[in-house]
Amino acid sequence: MACSIVPCGLGSPGRFYMIIAEDACIMLRLLPGLGSILSDEECERVELHSILDDAVLVFLREGADAWIPADRQSEPVHTRELQTTIQRGLGQGYDRLVCFLPREEVVYAAEGGGVRLKRLARSEQRRDAETGRPDLTGLADALGIPKSKRKAKFRQAYQFGRIAEQALAGMEKGTLRILDLACGRSYLGFVLVHLLAAGGREVALHGVDSDRALVDKCHEIARTLRWTNGTFEVADIADYSVAPGAYDIVVSLHACDTLTDEAIRIVCEAQMPLLLAAPCCQHEFRHLWKEHPLQWVSRYGLLEQRLADVLTDGFRCLVLEAMGYQVKVLRFTAPDVTPKNVLIQARLTSGPRPDRARDAEAFLKRFRLRPRLAAVLEAAGLRRRSQ
Ligand SMILES: C[S@@+](CC[C@H](N)C(=O)[O-])C[C@H]1O[C@@H](n2cnc3c(N)ncnc32)[C@H](O)[C@@H]1O
Repeated sequence: MACSIVPCGLGSPGRFYMIIAEDACIMLRLLPGLGSILSDEECERVELHSILDDAVLVFLREGADAWIPADRQSEPVHTRELQTTIQRGLGQGYDRLVCFLPREEVVYAAEGGGVRLKRLARSEQRRDAETGRPDLTGLADALGIPKSKRKAKFRQAYQFGRIAEQALAGMEKGTLRILDLACGRSYLGFVLVHLLAAGGREVALHGVDSDRALVDKCHEIARTLRWTNGTFEVADIADYSVAPGAYDIVVSLHACDTLTDEAIRIVCEAQMPLLLAAPCCQHEFRHLWKEHPLQWVSRYGLLEQRLADVLTDGFRCLVLEAMGYQVKVLRFTAPDVTPKNVLIQARLTSGPRPDRARDAEAFLKRFRLRPRLAAVLEAAGLRRRSQ
């Protein structure tokens, strides 16, 4: 096997070890479990340490398979590239790799010509102190999430909230205005407010939902939290609109079926700077399409639904790009927390893009579709109404 561990270090054999391996796969055999740790979304960061701790290289999880260097200046790296980076780092004087998982730290240390693995338990408090995260225990209680759903619901809101927090990081100081569409009990809105407020930001939240009982519940939660910067409104988002410049970010967590399209329409119409939307069920395409190039997939119901999910979200991304948004598609939480774990992040960066509108048009033509979201392109003059 083309791999060896070579003791290096000036005058002090065994100070650190260069791991020479043909490729990252061999490296993974040397560091058992590293591959699964790096691709585990729960792993919040990895650190490479030199023996004297005078050099530490930190990578933080951003979302999906991307890691960002702690200095936040350099480009994000993909999980596969991170393995190579670690491998290179270990050959450059770093001799200890620490992976931070929610409940434990996994430490790989060069020792005695080999690699020693140590697992250390992490307490909640220690984690919060280390990461500078606010304590969310009180908030979890105030939100009144039913016990049976608490873990999954709270994790979704928390992980979505963390990505939103990062997306807002570069935004000007001053009150951040958040619009939560199809907010339900606005778990997400409250968690996001909590995260941002803990980071010293002033925040104002407006939640919209068609269900009066849920909107009443939002008011009740705000009162319990003694939080006055929240307003909640009963409205149908299918005919909702906002004034340009009214909000800094629009979020939407699991707005069912075409409600996510309504959120996109609202954002595009008002040229809102930032949207984060995690779609829910996507039925529209399945109801609309009759004959299309992938008709044969429809024989298998489950696969047809997956095809509809992918094409619906892909089309949403195209429309957003056509309207001048830069789009990222992220996985915001693990599939066992919710299989509906796709997050569309769209940031307004340019004027309309006719090339993307043409791609969207070609797709609609091939699949003989006219979904509701096409109206956004029509209203912007990027598509003829009769098509
Ligand atoms: C799956 S829930 C998601 C709620 C919340 N965002 C969350 O993740 O907990 C969908 C929400 O959409 C709301 N809703 C359904 N139709 C709506 C409409 N036309 N306008 C506004 N909200 C609507 C429902 O009342 C419900 O609260």
